[in-house]
Amino acid sequence: MNFCDLTGKNILVTGASSGLGRATSVLVSKLNGRVCLIGRNEAALDETLSMMEGAGHIIISIDLCDYSRYDWLFGAVTAEFGMLHGLVHFAGVRKTLPVKVLKTESLKQMLEINLNAFLELVRYFTRKHVPDPEGAAIVAVSSVSALRGAPAMTGYACTKAALDGAVRSLACEMAPRKIRVNSIAPGHVETEMNVAVKNTLSVEAYNQIIQTHPLGTGQPTDVANLVAFLLSDEARWITGTTIFIDGGFMARS
Ligand SMILES: NC(=O)c1ccc[n+]([C@@H]2O[C@H](COP(=O)([O-])OP(=O)(O)OC[C@H]3O[C@@H](n4cnc5c(N)ncnc54)[C@H](OP(=O)(O)O)[C@@H]3O)[C@@H](O)[C@H]2O)c1
Repeated sequence: MNFCDLTGKNILVTGASSGLGRATSVLVSKLNGRVCLIGRNEAALDETLSMMEGAGHIIISIDLCDYSRYDWLFGAVTAEFGMLHGLVHFAGVRKTLPVKVLKTESLKQMLEINLNAFLELVRYFTRKHVPDPEGAAIVAVSSVSALRGAPAMTGYACTKAALDGAVRSLACEMAPRKIRVNSIAPGHVETEMNVAVKNTLSVEAYNQIIQTHPLGTGQPTDVANLVAFLLSDEARWITGTTIFIDGGFMARS
């Protein structure tokens, strides 16, 4: 029995040049899926590819905030892969900004990649003849910040809460076409994004973050395991939900 086998599945992974997107791309390849690695940094995408198994993966270097290129993007992917079976949107930015400096321009930058790019990707992914009519899965990457407050996280939290809202309606709209739509909400995972955070904090402040997670902070592979499951046929009865993967962060009072 090959639980979560992704043989024959063509999966788009944004943010594949780093952190969670890289770990997921590597795992999907180990489960026999074929991956289209999407990001801006070509050298980093090449590095992800060098860590993967199997053949037939492709790299597409694109700024996902340039929506005018999505027609080209999906044309290129479907020309290479044919029908698609999965879309995971990891690409995102987190700006830590107290509300007094949260200008609309900063909020717009986060919304463009965290939310608008996801909705635009979904719009193209769900076009006729793009997803396999036998079934496909979409995963948005939210955050515990969507539900738990913290100073200077207002803008980021808005973008992630909006994603969670979007997946519920998308799931209802897409169910007749056998397209499942879910989001995952990670706690603090040790990725490049968080190395930057760590470097700005004192050891005590960073230890406090770790202590808010009863099981400690996560590793990118922890998140990749959940995403691979959601992409697989074993998750065929799961849609329209947000799954927390947070080492117990949300369980605390
Ligand atoms: N790490 C955590 O603890 C944590 C917790 C909760 C939620 N999340 C969420 O998980 C996702 C991934 O986080 P991470 O820690 O893996 O972050 P990361 O290491 O900083 O990676 C971010 C990725 O987003 C891509 N990206 C950003 N802007 C882009 C754009 N305009 N066009 C194309 N690609 C773009 C980057 O690609 P290029 O550099 O190649 O452009 C990079 O691959 C994010 O949405 C984040 O909010 C992370």
